[in-house]
Amino acid sequence: PIVPVILAGGSGTRLWPVSRDSLPKQFQVLTGSHTLYQQTLQRVADPSLFAAPLVLTHEDFRFFARRQAAEIGMEVTVALEPMRRDSGPALIAAALIAQKLHGEDCLVLALAADHVVLDEPLFLDACRAGAQAAAEGQIVTFGITPTEPSTAYGYIRPGSPAGAGGARPVAAFVEKPDLATATRYVAEGYLWNSGNFFFPASVLLEEATRFEPDMVAAVRAAVETAIEDLGFIKLDAGAFATAPAKSIDYAVMEHTRRAAVVEGRFRWSDVGSWDALHDLAEGDEAGNVTRGPVTLLDSRNSYFHSEGPLVAGIGLDNLSVIATEDAVLVMPIDRAQDVKGLVAQLKTER
Ligand code: GDD
Ligand code: MG
Repeated sequence: PIVPVILAGGSGTRLWPVSRDSLPKQFQVLTGSHTLYQQTLQRVADPSLFAAPLVLTHEDFRFFARRQAAEIGMEVTVALEPMRRDSGPALIAAALIAQKLHGEDCLVLALAADHVVLDEPLFLDACRAGAQAAAEGQIVTFGITPTEPSTAYGYIRPGSPAGAGGARPVAAFVEKPDLATATRYVAEGYLWNSGNFFFPASVLLEEATRFEPDMVAAVRAAVETAIEDLGFIKLDAGAFATAPAKSIDYAVMEHTRRAAVVEGRFRWSDVGSWDALHDLAEGDEAGNVTRGPVTLLDSRNSYFHSEGPLVAGIGLDNLSVIATEDAVLVMPIDRAQDVKGLVAQLKTER
């Protein structure tokens, strides 16, 4: 079976004040009528294609993970990380648990819980192609054609020849290069890594053991001594704490020679910042995108999001206002990347 694994333990600081440490962006409604996590679950809801999803998240979010799944009528297995160790340990734990539940040879489709995918049929096409390459023992990535030299992504150089499912070998994988390097990569036809992966659990574990033996040993111990708590799988804190904190990209993808890339033709966004939400939505004739109780007069190219108060604006251009019950953010929309710095400053001031 194909076991969907949903990684839902990240933080998403650039979407402050909506995304908070206490309730990060994957559990928030940012587009449409469901949370990003719910939209991710719905993408893998077809029982003829997928087993019940396995969700990996931080202990603090356990009830959100379960309740939001129940709200859309989905049953999930939730495994809890006692502390943040980034996506490397989380994916290794997922592979080990998937093997226990579905057998040594199961295939895992690992999805980030905080992405928007606009063309579901094309997404499923890419999954079918990915399944063929994964079944041949590869770690499959989904490549996205870059639109700018972003330094927030991993870059993939597709090699040749194409194999099963049309997947090409990954000739190079570079996580978050600097701007000059990213600019060169875009010109040279590299693809963005979408941050979703398809692999046989056994192959991910073999490759992780090759490059990060200590990480695998720590996570294996945490899974072996996990306890069941209110129906959650609770990884052992003492063992998990000794796993180095590293993303799967740095831990495995930059080093493995068993990676392949399937080109994703679906429109995709990792919804990293408020300008991405502005770009994703249709908007009105003047280029405004609004959510919640918002009224604009004579304004253009602006993004307004309110979770409570009525927010009104007159004569604005390129402005973004994000209002929650207890905080309001105002900025030119093209400064959306700086929210991360603002949040860091807030943490030292308050
Ligand atoms: N369970 C769990 N535990 N999940 C985690 C953890 C953790 O400690 N840390 C991160 N995640 C989840 C996030 O919630 C997200 O769904 C996914 O793992 C990726 O983590 P991010 O922190 O968002 O990574 P990134 O965006 O900087 O980079 C990754 O995604 C890019 C595309 O959006 C990389 O894979 C890049 O190569 C890729 O381009
Ligand atoms: Mg991300």
